Amino acid sequence: MGVLVELQDVGQVYGEVVALDNTTTRFEPGSFTTIVGPSGCGKSTLLDIVAGLNRINDGRVLVDGQLLSAPRRETGIIFQEAALLPWRTVLENAAFALEARKVPEAERQAVAADVLRRVGLSEFGGHYPHQLSGGMRQRTAIARVLSTAPDLVLADEPFGALDEQTRVVLGFELLKMVRHVKATVIFVTHSIQEAVLLSDRILVMSARPGRIILDAPVDLPAERDPSVLGLKEAARLTEQVWGLLRTEAEDALARQGAAL
Ligand SMILES: Nc1ncnc2c1ncn2[C@@H]1O[C@H](COP(=O)(O)OP(=O)(O)OP(=O)(O)O)[C@@H](O)[C@H]1O
Ligand SMILES: [Mg+2]
Repeated sequence: MGVLVELQDVGQVYGEVVALDNTTTRFEPGSFTTIVGPSGCGKSTLLDIVAGLNRINDGRVLVDGQLLSAPRRETGIIFQEAALLPWRTVLENAAFALEARKVPEAERQAVAADVLRRVGLSEFGGHYPHQLSGGMRQRTAIARVLSTAPDLVLADEPFGALDEQTRVVLGFELLKMVRHVKATVIFVTHSIQEAVLLSDRILVMSARPGRIILDAPVDLPAERDPSVLGLKEAARLTEQVWGLLRTEAEDALARQGAAL
């Protein structure tokens, strides 16, 4: 397997805070990696770095063999809030990223209509964001990202604001779509269940200094549905990840207590 993203001894410091400490890891093309860890451990920092949004203090980042120094067009980002333009229709929002790329109008419309169909929103192209549910807004954001045919998708708790059922459904939809376009995914979540259900690799991060304390393959069938949670391997992995997160959370509370 090749490598799409490579972090070499990457460090990010904000004043006194070591947000990411001397981190080395790589992401294979087509892989789906989830990152879990306590609040403030540097998950968003790591994604921002891979997005090319941060100026790192140490090390280097390679994406597709190139030293990363700025955001690249082939990288799509999905945030927790859909960040749609309220004065634009769903179709216009889905086409927005293509406008910035100067894609001709007719092609924009065709591509946007196609991605809306793939996220199940064909009938809502003429609606405005305020007329949609939270799940539909997030689907629109996914459509916008897919319209640019990204090779790398970075998702920062994309379903964090949704109810659990919607979250599971959208998770499987996203999985299907990124597999279809063969995109590599790095996905931050607070849900261990989501990590086990969707990804083929889980990274657990520790707080202060932020570093990767577990890098585990998810050894489950490629065809994912909620029933995989019933498998022994899913239970074992959940327990392993939860064990690390519990220790992290307890340490964080103890530190807070000591600071009071
Ligand atoms: N722009 C910034 N300026 C200063 N400090 C920052 C900045 N961004 C992040 N930090 C600090 O770096 C650390 C890591 O933050 P980060 O947002 O990466 O955590 P996170 O794991 O995404 O947390 P959460 O789960 O709450 O989203 C935190 O201590 C945070 O306060
Ligand atoms: Mg974050």
